[in-house]
Amino acid sequence: MQRSLFIIKPDAVKRNLIGRILSYMEAADLTVVGLRMVDMTMEVAAGFYKVHEGKEFYDKLVEYMSSGRSVVVVLEGEDAINRIRKICGATDPSKADEGTIRAAFGISITMNSVHASDSTESAGQEVPYFFPDLG
Ligand code: CMP
Repeated sequence: MQRSLFIIKPDAVKRNLIGRILSYMEAADLTVVGLRMVDMTMEVAAGFYKVHEGKEFYDKLVEYMSSGRSVVVVLEGEDAINRIRKICGATDPSKADEGTIRAAFGISITMNSVHASDSTESAGQEVPYFFPDLG
């Protein structure tokens, strides 16, 4: 069993897509073990994406992630990290396979509707960032 941090980003929350996006995960037998809505400050968003600090897209990403409410979720399941990333699709929605969340709902590479931990190492940092009790 693995745990992964999953985020429904502001563009998707604003468009009332929380339920539809979570249903992709539940349909794949991934279990919600933590969930809350967060209104990220610039500091919280910057800390979460610290690994990208210095990249050309970083400032825009931090500004966007603090532009509205997100839903942060901890999902648990067999091979959860890889399976969730496949369900999300490529980072750039225009390159995401049909049937994935980003192909269905993503607007742009920044407004790509969802985030998911990309490794056991990142999950190990990202889960306790928002859920200290679940680390
Ligand atoms: P996410 O999976 O949340 O991880 C980092 C985010 O940075 C990514 O999704 C995108 O929303 C955003 N981003 C913006 N531009 C790029 C880029 N050129 N390459 C990767 N990520 C980008």
